[in-house]
Amino acid sequence: MSEIEPGVRLYRGYFDEAAQRALLRELESVIAAAPLLTPTMPRSGLPFSVRTTNCGPLGWLSDQARGYRYEARHPETGEPWPPMPRMLLDAWEKLADYPHPPEACLVNFYGPEARMGPHQDRDEADFSAPILSVSLGADCRFRLGGVKRSDSSRVFALSSGDVLTLGGPARLRFHGVDRLLPELAPKLSSPLFAAGGRINLTLRRVT
Ligand code: SIN
Ligand code: FE2
Repeated sequence: MSEIEPGVRLYRGYFDEAAQRALLRELESVIAAAPLLTPTMPRSGLPFSVRTTNCGPLGWLSDQARGYRYEARHPETGEPWPPMPRMLLDAWEKLADYPHPPEACLVNFYGPEARMGPHQDRDEADFSAPILSVSLGADCRFRLGGVKRSDSSRVFALSSGDVLTLGGPARLRFHGVDRLLPELAPKLSSPLFAAGGRINLTLRRVT
């Protein structure tokens, strides 16, 4: 583990290749039960370039009509989100330094052209729990800013198997993904990565 800045912890290769493959199998089931959605921006209604789904008790959703929010069911199937894979709950238990389990795991699927603009994760009621993010698939150029949008930012790569936590003084830091680095896509065979791509899992405490 390296604490690259106060509250920003990077666990390079936390999930080894066998664990990454096992996690991908779990995610294939999650996505089969809770199909990927295209969220849209609250005011403009413009689509995100990532597609998303969730597992765990609560799922993060966004659309023009109702904005950012957490809900207990998939909006199209009407079913509760699938349970969070044990491997993710274990990682939270080991790394989050927080006495309660995560309530939401947002699954972001990045196609080769997808990106995510700088934002804060602030739709949660309690900022004392960290956010824990897991990367799978292609490397990406990750951007980490400060707690104000105007603060300077730094970039580093996130690779398959890496875990990043933002907690304490870093919980509300801006962050985003400039782009994927598809030439470095790993050899993780999955129908989910038939055309390349990356998956990011963000575990959060919500209430
Ligand atoms: C996010 O902040 O929702 C995603 C971050 C990432 O893809 O690494
Ligand atoms: Fe985020």
